[in-house]
Amino acid sequence: MENNFDINNLVRENVKEMKPYSSARDEFEDFDTADMIFLDANENPFENGVNRYPDPQQLSVKEVLAKQRNVKTNQILLGNGSDEVLDLLFRVFCEPKTDNVVTLPPTYGMYGVLANINAVENKEVLLSQDFQPQIEKIIEAVDENTKIVFLCSPNNPTGNSFSDESIAYLLQNFKGLVVIDEAYIDFSKKDSWINELDEYPNLVITQTLSKAYGLAGIRLGICYASAEVISVLNKIKPPYNVNELTQKRALERLDNPEKIKSEINSIITQREVLLKVLLDVKFVEKIYPTEANFILVKVDDANKRYAELIAKGIVIRNRTTQPLCDNCLRFTVGTKQENMKLIEVLKQL
Ligand SMILES: Cc1ncc(COP(=O)(O)O)c(C=O)c1O
Repeated sequence: MENNFDINNLVRENVKEMKPYSSARDEFEDFDTADMIFLDANENPFENGVNRYPDPQQLSVKEVLAKQRNVKTNQILLGNGSDEVLDLLFRVFCEPKTDNVVTLPPTYGMYGVLANINAVENKEVLLSQDFQPQIEKIIEAVDENTKIVFLCSPNNPTGNSFSDESIAYLLQNFKGLVVIDEAYIDFSKKDSWINELDEYPNLVITQTLSKAYGLAGIRLGICYASAEVISVLNKIKPPYNVNELTQKRALERLDNPEKIKSEINSIITQREVLLKVLLDVKFVEKIYPTEANFILVKVDDANKRYAELIAKGIVIRNRTTQPLCDNCLRFTVGTKQENMKLIEVLKQL
């Protein structure tokens, strides 16, 4: 495995050759500011706030993100949740029935689902017992047709971050794309890999407003990568993939970083409270370290405890069928009141 990164070796031939759809709003980019009459997009002309198509490039949102994350707007692509961003990565880089990706279970299930949808082989290389990437096994799994290695850090459902050394090794030695899914990065003490974007042309980072930013309902996922990678993703994305209401709501929220920070701090405080209390719950056998807004615990009988909690009106995630997660339950950290209720119920069981 050695890294002679060249994006042209990675992009599917049909994507290289295709001409992207050019929407009315792409052809007239200054529509926001110009005092003009728009008779180009077959819209209803009567104003109601959303009668016009949204900005296909979501420039206002990207400008705020670029400033906050210290990148350029051409290093950002936005999607309908990070799930759409992940799907676009498959569709740009992975030739169906030919190429493959590497994923590291137990991890976020959508990588495997998207591989299936796109008819791309998913080479699974289990994490180690302490939930770290097994670099030698990943290297063994990689072949000429491996286009992407998906790393989720902090990882769902285990909660831990992957070691910097493992991630750096892959970035330096794998000639395909290394996608780091940082959906939970804001709950971690670790820095985002965004700061390394200029260092590694094969680095792709996904983030989301669904977790720490509290906007799961608006569906806004973010991809940070080189301008080259972003430009090819832009070529295939649906023209208006991020709707006007989402863009507006995201801008409002991004304008209030103190509120977001205070919610994150409160979630982290509550996480630490829960971690302590779980030590005293008699059926809990192991509590895994976490840098996310959830906690993975091993219990005596996951199916039984899951059913008991449901009967008490508390829904958690049973992860017992996942590899290395025998009898494991995943608890999302809620509000103080929700967590107090959870603690009360756990102590009763
Ligand atoms: C690791 C990880 N990535 C991505 C997502 C999905 O994010 P989005 O809501 O932006 O599609 C999730 C949701 O649970 C997740 O756990």
